[in-house]
Amino acid sequence: MTQSFDVAVIGAGPAGYIAAIRCAQLGLATACVDDWKTPKGQYALGGTCLNVGCIPSKALLESSENYERVLHKFKVHGITASGVKVDLAAMLARKDGIVARMTGGIAGLFKKNGVAWLKGHGRLQGGGTTWKIAIEGEDGGETVEAKNVVIATGSKARHLPGVPVDQKLVCDNEGALAFDAVPERLGVIGAGVIGLELGSVWRRLGSKVKILEALPDFLGSADTDIAKEAWKIFTKEQGLEIELGVSIVKVLSSKKIITIQYTASDNSSKTLECDRLIVSIGRVPNTDDLGAGHVGLKIDAKGFVEVDKNCRSSLPRVYAIGDAVRGPMLAHKGEEEGVMVAEIIAGQLGHVNYDAIPWVMYTSPEIAWVGRTEQQLKAEGIAYRAGKFPFAYNGRALGRDEPEGFIKMLADAKSDRILGVHALGGQASELIAEAVVAMEFGASSEDIARICHAHPSMSEVMREAALAVDKRALNG
Ligand code: FAD
Ligand code: NAI
Repeated sequence: MTQSFDVAVIGAGPAGYIAAIRCAQLGLATACVDDWKTPKGQYALGGTCLNVGCIPSKALLESSENYERVLHKFKVHGITASGVKVDLAAMLARKDGIVARMTGGIAGLFKKNGVAWLKGHGRLQGGGTTWKIAIEGEDGGETVEAKNVVIATGSKARHLPGVPVDQKLVCDNEGALAFDAVPERLGVIGAGVIGLELGSVWRRLGSKVKILEALPDFLGSADTDIAKEAWKIFTKEQGLEIELGVSIVKVLSSKKIITIQYTASDNSSKTLECDRLIVSIGRVPNTDDLGAGHVGLKIDAKGFVEVDKNCRSSLPRVYAIGDAVRGPMLAHKGEEEGVMVAEIIAGQLGHVNYDAIPWVMYTSPEIAWVGRTEQQLKAEGIAYRAGKFPFAYNGRALGRDEPEGFIKMLADAKSDRILGVHALGGQASELIAEAVVAMEFGASSEDIARICHAHPSMSEVMREAALAVDKRALNG
């Protein structure tokens, strides 16, 4: 049977499901095709982010942080606890419950907005005035015809060549969010966002964690000041072992133990033995089984769908968004692109400001930033002024026992326009929103410095960092 729509969205992760909802809101007849299945074999919306990404990882980060608080951080408040134990099954069940609630929520939103959910794998078949998509799966046999197509097929974990991932001993993000026991020794390859977030989860729950990273610098994409301070906190204070500049030679797996042979930065040969291994070395776009070749859709050398700044592909009325295209692989970046293409399809002026997309790492303390780093400004020869203020001088941070870290604001030397804001500290994920708003509105550091911030609050550190740009911080 053939069903006709104004828009067919392929993929129901945060990019695709938001695009579908916005299209429907704008009065376009919309279908969303998705092939994600839960471990029980049921189709589920939400893609990587809701099923095995943002949402379950944040649930486990919170649970494991609570365990760490009760074990090590309550004492200073005069609270002692004994007999504290982790019930891992309950912790994982809570995480799974949150995932089910969120993915079920999208099904509800589809119903409310009249988006047709088609279950199965979609492949582009051909086009003319309308595009045809064949579906394989529960709704197999259906062919969708649509005037416009939005490709939102997302990404999957990159694996090491010759190292099979069984999701039991050797895992990517999927297995690492569902270990059935806390591993005594956990190896991680890749000290990026997943390595640090999930490495932190299992370290807090009791694993001895060692992370092997290929690059010689830690957190190369973060501001250098932030990366240096985070390195000190994660390795020296929290006991996360991270070795930089390594080259993996071989990964051998027996029934219970994994042995990683690698060359260290000094060229010596080393071996790491562990009980579980997480491979978190980046992600690759899901564009290999999309029928791209069939319709002549241009895919670049890394597998991303080629698009312009408005996410238009090489084909008429075919758009691509989210992890399947260039730019940061972040859920909110995909969502913004979803809204933009929906509005363009509806004849409006859609737009994404790629200079104001925040980054957050949900470690403890959290790391968050928006805009340029100090090293980028130097490389681009842009004159700037920097203001930095520590959480240690803030009453609310002390009350919360979160004195670590700082906020740094970078502003144009001439115009004072904010160019970047970098935070390491408690609640950094929430605090960064003020900086994003400021940058979207083209604010200067003086604008933030003149805004009344509640006392005592962590947000005062943002204001003090803004004041510090002009060397007139009031409390430090
Ligand atoms: P996806 O979420 O990958 O969704 C794509 C969907 O399309 C999937 O359901 C897939 O099965 C389906 N699909 C693929 N091909 C087809 C096809 N041909 N036919 C039908 N369906 C198809 N980002 C953040 O912003 N914040 C975070 O805290 C965060 N945490 C993360 C934690 C982890 C462990 C991981 C792995 C990622 C995290 N991310 C986070 C990244 C975030 O998950 C991705 O950027 C986001 O999911 C991308 O959204 P998307 O819609 O482009 O793709
Ligand atoms: P990543 O790109 O953040 O980090 C991968 C790390 O692995 C890099 O430091 C890289 O140098 C290293 N690496 C690559 N090949 C290697 C090798 N052969 N040996 C050793 N190290 C190697 O990727 P990650 O952590 O897998 O996460 C994927 C993406 O998912 C992130 O880039 C991010 O876009 C998204 N994500 C976002 C989160 C958030 O917003 N809080 C949380 C988790 C993931």
